[in-house]
Order: sequence, then structure tokens, then C-alpha cells
Amino acid sequence: MLPADLYARLPLLERLEIEMGLTVIDHALAGVVLTGLRDKTTPPATFRHLTKTVSTIIAVEAARTLPTHTVSVDTPLELTSGKALEVGLITVPILRAGLGMLESVLDLIPEARVGYLGLERSEDTAEAGLYYSKLPDVFGKTVWMLDPMLATGGSASRAASILYHAGARHVSLLCIVAAPEGVAFLTANHPDLHIITASLDRELNGKKYILPGLGDFGDRLFGTT
Ligand code: PRP
Ligand code: URA
Repeated sequence: MLPADLYARLPLLERLEIEMGLTVIDHALAGVVLTGLRDKTTPPATFRHLTKTVSTIIAVEAARTLPTHTVSVDTPLELTSGKALEVGLITVPILRAGLGMLESVLDLIPEARVGYLGLERSEDTAEAGLYYSKLPDVFGKTVWMLDPMLATGGSASRAASILYHAGARHVSLLCIVAAPEGVAFLTANHPDLHIITASLDRELNGKKYILPGLGDFGDRLFGTT
């Protein structure tokens, strides 16, 4: 552990990464794709494509620590050893916007099972209400929640509570843009949860939108603005 005076002088991002289960992806391609997502002139078709690309990068990072076991494999030349994923990953897109990330995860890990949680923020209070839930048995399992935006943290925190209550062992949130307020709220409520994000943005505005952010992800993904 760093001495307290040195630690206090670290930038916010580094303190969050040390203190909380936060990984902010540092990858040139993620930065380029994110710029396209932020651009307000990007149309929904391109927005969906960019979402898939950055979600693949995020999922690869999240998979870094997935448990594997050793298997043997016959190459054309000789028998050698290789790796196989332990089965049992469950991924849970948070409707609607999390749907944009699902295909990338399933392309990488086709055997993952999929649950759905529908949560929507109230326009007035920004509080998340649950309107749909369909989950496989998550008891003892590793669960990846998919939600591109972590703003106040209300939606992700509610989803994580449902998953932990159902017995999930490890829960991670794969997201594209996070606000410091959301990271703090989510990890205060769920200290064991790991967040992997492509960006930690500056702050929330008065309407609880992320700045600089990219606007309403679900609306931009599905063209409902
Ligand atoms: C967005 C986003 C998150 C939530 C984040 O969903 O996809 O679920 O807001 O905000 P929070 O951290 O303050 O809870 P929204 O409620 O707009 O629903 P949608 O995906 O159907 O558009
Ligand atoms: N949800 C979004 O889609 N965007 C934000 O900036 C905040 C919440």
C-alpha cells in the first residue's frame, strides 16, 4: 500500500482503480471507436457497428481472468496441451441498451447463457424501475452484466442486487462509458463487483446525463430520438 500522503496526490482515476474494482481500458482502437460513438452525427447503423467493435474489446479484457483448465490437443504434428474455458458464464444485458453489446460477447463465448433484466430510468427522478426479468439459474456462477452507460449507478446497482440475491458468485459490469458518481455508488453498494469500462468520463449534469458522454445510448442505438 502507498503511504497516505503519496496516495492522496494520485489522480482520481488511479485512486478509483486501486480502491475499487475498476478497469479502464487503455487501447488505441477503443479510443477511436468511442470517438465515433460520441459524435452526435453518427447514425444508428454506424452506432450499432461501433458498439459491437468496442464491446468486443471490453469483453476480451473482461475474459482475461476467466477460469480455464488444461486440455490436450492434437496438432497436425504432435500432442500438446492447451486451455479450455470453465463452463458456466452467464451474461445479462440490461434492456434496452445492453442488447447492443450482447452479440460481441456471444461471438467470443458462444456457450455463455443469457439472462435479461429490463430497467428504465425515470425521466424525472433518474431512478431505475424494473419492468422485466428472465434469468437462468445464476447460483454459484460468474455473471457479466452488459450495460453501456453507468451514470448514477442506480440501474446497475439494482441489477447487481438481483443477481447477488439469486446467488451469483462473481458479478462484473461491462460498460462503455462510466461516470465517477456511478462507479462510487455501485462499488459502495457492491464492493466485490468488478467494472470494466472503455472510458471514465468527467461527471453527471443536472439531468444525470454523463459529460462529455454520448447522449442517450438506447435512443442512439435504436434510432428512437
Ligand atoms: C440507460 C442506460 C443504463 C442507465 C444508466 O438506460 O442504458 O441502463 O440509463 O443510468 P443510471 O446509471 O443512472 O441508472 P435507460 O434507463 O435510458 O433505458 P434504455 O436502455 O431502455 O434506453
Ligand atoms: N443513460 C444514457 O443513455 N446516457 C447517459 O448519459 C446517462 C444515462
